[in-house]
Amino acid sequence: MADVKKLREKAAKRGIGTATGGGGYERHVLVCVGGSCSAKSENEATLKIFRRRAKVLESQGHRVYCTPVECLQLCRGGPLVVIYPEGTWYHSVSPSVAERIADMHLGQGQPLEEHVITSNALHSERNDSAEQN
Ligand code: FES
Repeated sequence: MADVKKLREKAAKRGIGTATGGGGYERHVLVCVGGSCSAKSENEATLKIFRRRAKVLESQGHRVYCTPVECLQLCRGGPLVVIYPEGTWYHSVSPSVAERIADMHLGQGQPLEEHVITSNALHSERNDSAEQN
């Protein structure tokens, strides 16, 4: 059985969730670091850019959480990146494109349209229940 107390403490330290009174991030960036959508070394270089830019944004009061994932199940046209809560899927996110996405999307809330594959925004329970009424 997982030690949920320790997990919650670690999550709070990383700014995950607001229930513990800490942080809560604004955006979650998932970067594919698998080797099928593009060269693994390029995917990892893209992840480094997002992590570096997340630190800069944090110093400006914004919380961005970056997570490497092994595969986003499209396996072509990478590096592939997804940013939530908008659910914006990006293709061909080379390190230089990652810099532009960091400026536009993470910095200004505007997607870098020329690299968007599609979007799949998630709805909160509050929004879902409001739609049902
Ligand atoms: S390896 Fe990147 S999407 Fe599958």
